Amino acid sequence: MKKMRVGILAGTGMVGQKYIQLLEDHPWFEVVYISASERSAGKKYSEAVKGRWHLSTDLPKNIAEINVSKMNEIAKCKECCDFVFSALGSAPAKEWEEKYAEAGIPVVSNASAHRHDKDVPMIVPEINSDHLKIIPIQQRNRNWKDGFIAVKPNCSLQSYLTPLFALHKKFKLKRAIITTMQAVSGAGYPGVSSYDLIDNVVPFIPGEEEKSEFEPRKILGDIVGNEIVNNNDFRISAHCNRVPVIDGHLATVSVDFEIKPSREEILKIWKEFKGISQEYNLPSAPKQPIIYREESDRPQPKLDRDIDKGMAVTVGRLREGNVFQYRFVGLSHNTVRGAAGGGILNAELLVKEGFIS
Ligand SMILES: NC(=O)c1ccc[n+]([C@@H]2O[C@H](COP(=O)([O-])OP(=O)(O)OC[C@H]3O[C@@H](n4cnc5c(N)ncnc54)[C@H](OP(=O)(O)O)[C@@H]3O)[C@@H](O)[C@H]2O)c1
Repeated sequence: MKKMRVGILAGTGMVGQKYIQLLEDHPWFEVVYISASERSAGKKYSEAVKGRWHLSTDLPKNIAEINVSKMNEIAKCKECCDFVFSALGSAPAKEWEEKYAEAGIPVVSNASAHRHDKDVPMIVPEINSDHLKIIPIQQRNRNWKDGFIAVKPNCSLQSYLTPLFALHKKFKLKRAIITTMQAVSGAGYPGVSSYDLIDNVVPFIPGEEEKSEFEPRKILGDIVGNEIVNNNDFRISAHCNRVPVIDGHLATVSVDFEIKPSREEILKIWKEFKGISQEYNLPSAPKQPIIYREESDRPQPKLDRDIDKGMAVTVGRLREGNVFQYRFVGLSHNTVRGAAGGGILNAELLVKEGFIS
């Protein structure tokens, strides 16, 4: 198969660099175009990231030579790319993603700018691939021909939503209290200053609790008529904290279901859970999306974040609670499954389903 040509909007940041690393030997996709802010535009990529290439693997030689484009070079992007990944922050994403889509370029986004739009699918392939059906409606609504926007959710949800969804299908999620301990790489670069974070926990991440409480409603919602209708049958209360860990968001979850499952049922469902990414054998799919660790002190970010290329969710410490039915701990790699790896998996699904060609 001839590789598809892809662009990365904001390819110089924390998430953009992760895209470059993960796409280096990708069997379907090849990076040919990178854009970023005015401070990087016009430079060779190697110069633009000089002194701030954060990854342990070397910058690929072909990428080092790419000239970073300005955001408004959309015609150039259209000429050389089959689609783009967007690693833009929320404000520039609001300004630019629609312009790329309008020009006929599919945009696979990490940003929060369009997550609330009722005609924009917010996809976790193992949960709601059926929401891709909204794309032709989005294109009709906005008079776009070949372009569209598909987004992935906030990085912290990944550590608990798939395990909850696997159980929700049979036992119906009723309410959950979730406390996240989120890695510093989740704040981008330079992020939270070392002075503020070493020897410390910061009990506030702007906008994160609202995202954790809203986004599961949309992901577990349904397409009704011409829009995605949120599922308002359950409640989530979130506390989000920044902790001095480099990579890997950990979440403790206390949960009630409409029908109380047994511990054995939960473990069996998690063990056997598979989604469309596994069915289609997508190149970035984890072999087993949910991995349960029996040890009483796992999962831990340092030990478990890289399991299955950083694409699986690790859970542990499942036990009954004396307020909620069950408690457990979830972990996922925030810049892989929660960001670039999740975006790549979404793009693979979009290709497989024929939305990108
Ligand atoms: N970090 C994570 O774990 C994570 C996880 C999930 C989602 N996300 C989301 O991914 C996005 C990127 O996050 P990040 O961690 O990569 O941030 P980051 O390290 O701060 O990088 C920001 C990127 O945006 C570019 N940029 C800044 N202002 C711009 C503008 N006005 N126009 C065009 N480009 C602009 C920067 O280009 P220059 O280098 O030229 O300044 C850089 O490439 C955000 O929406 C974030 O919420 C992050």
